[in-house]
Amino acid sequence: MSKVWLVLVALPLMAEEPVSFQKQIRPILARQCAACHQPASKQSELLVTTYDGLLKGGRKGAAFVAGKPDESVVIGYLTGKTSPQMPFGGKPLAAEQIDLFKRWILEGAKNDSPPENLDLTTLKPAVYYAPPLITALAYSPDGKMMIVGIAKELPLFDSVSGKPLSTLKHKSGLLGCRFSPDCQSLLCAGGGDGATLWDLKSKKSQLLEHGAYGAEFSADGTLIATAGDDNHVMIWKAKGDPVTTLEACKDTVFHVAFSPNGKRLVSIDSSGGVRLWDTKDWKLLGESRVAPATAGAPTPSWYPDSRRFAVGGDKMIAVYDV
Ligand code: HEC
Repeated sequence: MSKVWLVLVALPLMAEEPVSFQKQIRPILARQCAACHQPASKQSELLVTTYDGLLKGGRKGAAFVAGKPDESVVIGYLTGKTSPQMPFGGKPLAAEQIDLFKRWILEGAKNDSPPENLDLTTLKPAVYYAPPLITALAYSPDGKMMIVGIAKELPLFDSVSGKPLSTLKHKSGLLGCRFSPDCQSLLCAGGGDGATLWDLKSKKSQLLEHGAYGAEFSADGTLIATAGDDNHVMIWKAKGDPVTTLEACKDTVFHVAFSPNGKRLVSIDSSGGVRLWDTKDWKLLGESRVAPATAGAPTPSWYPDSRRFAVGGDKMIAVYDV
């Protein structure tokens, strides 16, 4: 009888998976900490956007000691044992979140994040145990193809017959996909993946920017803009060669949109900062702010005449005359 009891009690404990840095710790860092601990704003010299950043640590040295949560700098700051408590000036993390950090460190602080330039073509096909969530969907401008973004794959369909054409692989967290105007490439963005550019013929992919939430082609397909999590917009040529970096944003950039005539670019950041750029010399032409919508960042949309654009905010739509 007592044996049966032991098994029943022990099972849930044994079934508990180790804490994943990539899936559980990184999202907390990205949401609650990265605003102040990233390349453009590195408070106390600490970077939390990568595992190596935490390992290197800030002024106090490594942010964690593997196996020893009580000796880890980051735990002291999260619990408030070391002041000022983190996140600085904000609400402390929930006790369960702090426990995740402690458990992750206790379990050896392993890094399970994928290498930044993983060759996506070598990943094995994903296996689904339930219908997957669709997080991105796009038709090609010629109407012939449709791409569907699910957990780790991008199946490409013939949009007329519905037949699968091929499947591209990606890592995770896809938020959006765009075909280039000539239908030769595909641009995808998402928190986990960053902005990835695919050549649809060779099926080769290229990581443009790690940690990009939005990416768009210009209407003529000659330029790409990516919205980055370290407060900047990056501009690329159509084949992925870097052109320039736009630095004036104060927060994680969520969306970018070229005007239909290609002369202007709008960027929107997570605190509702709206910025208008000239695509000739990449000068900042103007800035404004909308109250960010609680359900996510507002998306910009241009009028066909390129003279106005609209941004969705909290219970309102702001229309700008450029
Ligand atoms: C609003 C800005 C801000 C946010 C958000 C923020 N920090 Fe900080 N962080 C700071 C500042 C400022 C310091 C320096 C504090 C001091 O020593 O006076 C700091 C220091 C630290 C240090 C000490 C680094 C060292 O070695 O000196 C750690 C660790 C840390 N933060 C972790 C975090 C974590 C984890 C989060 C998210 C839960 C977070 N921070 C969120 C601003 C911030």
